[in-house]
Amino acid sequence: MEKVVLAFSGGLDTSVCIKLLEEKYEMDVITACVDVGQPREEIDRPASVADEVGSLKHYTIDAQEEFVEDFIFKAIKANAIYEGYSLSTALARPLIAMKIVELAKKEGANAIAHGCTGKGNDQFRFESVIRSMSDCKVIAPIRDLNLTRTEEMEYAKSCGIPLPADKHYSIDENLWGRAIEGDALEDPMVEPPEDAFSWTQPIEKTPDKAQDLTIEFEKGIPNSINDEKLFPLDLISKCNEIAGMHGIGRVDIIEDRIIGLKSREIYETPAALLLITAHKALEQLVLTREELKFGEIASNTYSEIIYNGMWHDPLREDLDQLFDNMQKRVTGQVKLKLHKGSLRVIGRKSPYSLYQEEVVSFEDKALDQREIAGMVKHYGIQAAAYNKICKK
Ligand code: ARG
Repeated sequence: MEKVVLAFSGGLDTSVCIKLLEEKYEMDVITACVDVGQPREEIDRPASVADEVGSLKHYTIDAQEEFVEDFIFKAIKANAIYEGYSLSTALARPLIAMKIVELAKKEGANAIAHGCTGKGNDQFRFESVIRSMSDCKVIAPIRDLNLTRTEEMEYAKSCGIPLPADKHYSIDENLWGRAIEGDALEDPMVEPPEDAFSWTQPIEKTPDKAQDLTIEFEKGIPNSINDEKLFPLDLISKCNEIAGMHGIGRVDIIEDRIIGLKSREIYETPAALLLITAHKALEQLVLTREELKFGEIASNTYSEIIYNGMWHDPLREDLDQLFDNMQKRVTGQVKLKLHKGSLRVIGRKSPYSLYQEEVVSFEDKALDQREIAGMVKHYGIQAAAYNKICKK
């Protein structure tokens, strides 16, 4: 029998895939769960489900550090946000795909399977990376068979596949964020029920006292909180914890998917919001107006590339180089105030600051105001001409 490696999360879609691949595709199934910082039970459960459903072999692949260093840090440097979404799922998919390709090579499998439906973005993200790195056949059983969630549920019951307990939402969680879709959330006018959230406190339960945080960056990479140096993984976790406690990081948006469908998306992304806000504040201090302006355009393009699953497009690498070069001066500290769901920048400093307090000060005389008069006099010369000539 042909061997297939299935990217396995232990959720409904991928659990159903194990059986479908065995029964309908007549393949030997190797399952693999890639750890990108999902909760412990989402690492343990796949192993036990794989065992119960009967996959040939199951692998757990720890990719957490790579996820932070090669993906999350790039996203911070780029201030990557797509339509208000800080790209947690979108950033993890290419890495998961890379790990699965590696495993397929090691196992001598000539097919790779994933549990994506035909309506979402992840099918693009997985398959573009798989195809750019291997010649494996790609199988998407749920999409191939055009299955609905209810049909999947029935099939699962009929062949004794254990279902995740009480999951009415479709949730994807990793270190950079938690995405919640489906069920009551599909009506865009319905307020997300409190049970959709788990990383962020409702405002009523947040501390009454505000908390100040100082985040330090070195070349665009956050490395300490309140002067305490932290390992990358711990730093991100701690930011999630602190900001989440203050009710920061809930996002409710209508998002434009790759295929054009609009979808209602709920996210919890406390660390992403905190760190990107701080990072932007530091950039304002050290980058020139021209860099900031172009940086914004580059950031939008970068975010779209990530969202669209084009990780291996050379433009992504080109932009990473641009950002890396700009980040040479993004070193310094940013002070933030967290209180009742609000996040405010209250201070920033850097050895590369372009802010000249002496010159901008009202008390300064070194910059002779009179010299600027000539600059002002002819400012807007075209608008003046237009008003005088064309508006008569
Ligand atoms: N809309 C987001 C994206 O395309 C999140 C998808 C998360 N999946 C989920 N089952 N909730 O990246």
